[in-house]
Amino acid sequence: MRKRIVAGNWKMNKTLQEGIELAKEVNNRVKALAPQHTQVIVGTPFIHLAEVNKLADAIAVSAQNCATEASGAYTGEVSAAMIASAGCRYVILGHSERRSYYGETDEILVKKVARALENGLDIIFCVGEVLADREAGKHFDIVKSQLENGLFHLDAASFARIVVAYEPVWAIGTGKTATSTQAEEMHAFIRQTIAGRYGKEAATATTILYGGSCNAKNADELFSQPDVDGGLIGGASLKADDFLAIINARENH
Ligand code: 13P
Repeated sequence: MRKRIVAGNWKMNKTLQEGIELAKEVNNRVKALAPQHTQVIVGTPFIHLAEVNKLADAIAVSAQNCATEASGAYTGEVSAAMIASAGCRYVILGHSERRSYYGETDEILVKKVARALENGLDIIFCVGEVLADREAGKHFDIVKSQLENGLFHLDAASFARIVVAYEPVWAIGTGKTATSTQAEEMHAFIRQTIAGRYGKEAATATTILYGGSCNAKNADELFSQPDVDGGLIGGASLKADDFLAIINARENH
């Protein structure tokens, strides 16, 4: 069975002290829950990574970005090697906020994907359409091109280290979640697109997460869909009670 994941993306929230407190509580509650089918990940700001990794023994830790270059004179950047050296297993790449606010193109993402894989990081790779694309009926084409241009140059062994996160941009932070039918329809399409490139077996093994206003109330319904393998959670991952409710929803399905 493919891996089920509930991952929190804290974005630019929590001071170091607040982040350590939250991570500690999440880690301890996940340890007590001892999930059998669900990998829990917290995606923290860079500054938190080393400390959170030290305390995390029931959850995995992810960065939210990495540099395109390996090392050198790139002021303000953080390399994939540094992230790995802090103890991280994952990095989130291609988030819509990075694509839209920081101009991350497919070409930039190809470099970041390479740096992450070279340094042993598994990747949570985000795709998703904006509202205008959906209204124009172009959402499948957009997501397909994000997959093709960002990932499909990889060989099968590298692709096996990718978790895909479908995050419709219109659902992120808006409280307007995709319906479970919309999510399932896109997840099935993503799996079929992966099958077209890497074969059915690889597609069946790929974990595909849903993100966008996923919360304690709607997680159960979203996770009931056969191709929704878990969630990438923004706002609701900042409160331990809400995040744990989502983890429970995944674990109990
Ligand atoms: P929200 O859960 O706050 O809508 O954010 C989703 C997201 O962007 C996770 O990466």
